[in-house]
Amino acid sequence: MYSDAKNNRKTVRDILKLIDKRPIVSLTAYTAPMANWMDEHVDFILVGDSLGMVLYGMKSTIGVTLDMMIAHTKGVMRGSSKAMVILDMPFGSYEESPEQAFRNASRAMIETGCSAVKMEGGKDIAPTIEYLTQRNIPVMAHIGLRPQAVNVMGGYKTQGRDKDEWEEHLEDAAAVKQAGAFAVVLEGMAKDLADKITHFLKEGNKSIATIGIGASCGCDGQVLVSEDMLGFFPKNAKFVKRYAEIGVTMDEAFREYSTEVKSRNFPAASHIYGMKE
Ligand code: KIV
Repeated sequence: MYSDAKNNRKTVRDILKLIDKRPIVSLTAYTAPMANWMDEHVDFILVGDSLGMVLYGMKSTIGVTLDMMIAHTKGVMRGSSKAMVILDMPFGSYEESPEQAFRNASRAMIETGCSAVKMEGGKDIAPTIEYLTQRNIPVMAHIGLRPQAVNVMGGYKTQGRDKDEWEEHLEDAAAVKQAGAFAVVLEGMAKDLADKITHFLKEGNKSIATIGIGASCGCDGQVLVSEDMLGFFPKNAKFVKRYAEIGVTMDEAFREYSTEVKSRNFPAASHIYGMKE
């Protein structure tokens, strides 16, 4: 009755077991080849709605649709076999009601085979998180700087640099834990607040992992947008470390190709099919 088809992917339980052992490692991927390159090195791959900006040149994540997220998550699933894959629910696909969120998240999981979904929000979406987790959908929450709320937050501003703001974020963290989220992304947040939330969420007997991006090295794990850390763009936010300069490498390759095509040095004899002998 149980399929013995091999599934070596990490699970939510595997991820939670890492808390207090070593930091959880994550990156974004939107395509099969990128997922394939990172599969060995990360615990989970986030198919982030940041793909709207990174792949499609949009100004924000607001125009990203569930169909786009599903298509890219299918590619990431095909390109990976070890890391857990999480699909980011896009703007408009979960806020209306817990029922809407369940309908869309279950469709996403059925069509892609991903293991969990992420959604932005704290207290405001706690009833939705509870509804989904009670129906077997693991949820990663996302608090602090919430890119889908850019139009109400007034831009991409680091959160919690003023202590007066802390209470609101602590309440969000407590609410998503109480609702059953297995992890919470802390984005664009003052280090002290991120540390406080990480410690505070350890109280009690339920585990929930904090995943930092522009937050603190004290978080239970880290995530970055791969194209940012690979150096695809001329400039990054302060919190991004550039681990490579792929943009420069691509520029050099495209220039050399263009030069060789124009001078008829490409294709060379080794790249050409001759006639049968
Ligand atoms: O969309 C995304 O890539 C994200 C991460 C930056 C956390 O939400």
